[in-house]
Amino acid sequence: MRVLGIETSCDETGVAIYDGSQGKVLAHKLFSQIPLHKQYGGVVPELAARDHVSKTIPLIREVIAAANLRNTDIDGIAYTAGPGLMGALLVGAAIGRSLAWAWNIPAIAVHHMEGHLLAPFLEEQKPSFPFLALLVSGGHTLLVKVNALGDYAVLGESIDDAVGEAFDKTAKLLGLPYPGGPALAALAKQGNAKRFHFPRPMTDRQGLDFSFSGLKTHAATMLKKLATPQTQDCADIAIAFEEAAIDTLVIKCTRALAETGLQQLVVAGGVSANQMLRERLHKLATHHAVEVFFPRLEFCTDNGAMIAYAGWQHLQQGERQDDLAIKAQARWVMG
Ligand code: KG4
Ligand code: ZN
Repeated sequence: MRVLGIETSCDETGVAIYDGSQGKVLAHKLFSQIPLHKQYGGVVPELAARDHVSKTIPLIREVIAAANLRNTDIDGIAYTAGPGLMGALLVGAAIGRSLAWAWNIPAIAVHHMEGHLLAPFLEEQKPSFPFLALLVSGGHTLLVKVNALGDYAVLGESIDDAVGEAFDKTAKLLGLPYPGGPALAALAKQGNAKRFHFPRPMTDRQGLDFSFSGLKTHAATMLKKLATPQTQDCADIAIAFEEAAIDTLVIKCTRALAETGLQQLVVAGGVSANQMLRERLHKLATHHAVEVFFPRLEFCTDNGAMIAYAGWQHLQQGERQDDLAIKAQARWVMG
């Protein structure tokens, strides 16, 4: 079964084809809207939606051609139905649902975070159920016990900002361009980690929830104290922030692994591209005799391949959308 995946939940138009019988992605393409939103310092939802309108169908054509297929070779369509920006979601959902109807093939609405969660299955080294998943993106910070496909128990989540959001907001305070996460991590490389210390929020009490909004406030207070911060000051704040955010995630992962007794940890979502997080979790894996799984870097951030794969998983189990609704929900609780 060959499944076309369409991702338009935020600022990337992602399209891919996953072939279940070959067990691989045949082609995938991404159009990033970063240059479009950069001048505004963040995603402008209406511009994002309009750009998806002009990019999605050409990308679908390109992906089908790149896979050396014809339209009639596609057996199902998976589209991101949420959570995300409503206007942006509606574009992919309308195109995905309509194409599936026109081509007379099944459609399936996919949860964006489930797409991230399953992205490590696109790698050669695959996890097996059950496992613990740390999902870290611009909108979510989740610790999930994954029992089986579709059987997800949320063990912990952020009570305020997501970790990616905290990276983005702190980066903005430091005068860095959107998207802030990678820019902050790059600046932190020149920083002196010993100069400042940020708290590790909610690690001194029981439980697996997170809180990241205080880290941004902490950075703002430090910047105010410095009055006219120089580049080195910003780099020193960036490394202290990054250390605290990553340390907090690692502490909670260690705790969740101990509490659940699970021996595999899957890490996905945009922040899983962070080099410090990857290194620290590899270390944790060695020390605690657990296995850790990451998607390749290009499948950490939003992409069509993870949606095609998640859709294929559900379709091959016989699930499909049984109506013609164009499904889109800005909020959609996982599990
Ligand atoms: O999964 P994603 O592409 O989109 C959402 O579903 O939100 O995640 C985007 C988030 C942004 O907050 C971005 O700053 C963050 O992932 N991010 C990073 C890195 N690369 C992307 N944060 C820290 N370090 C990175 N290298
Ligand atoms: Zn995402």
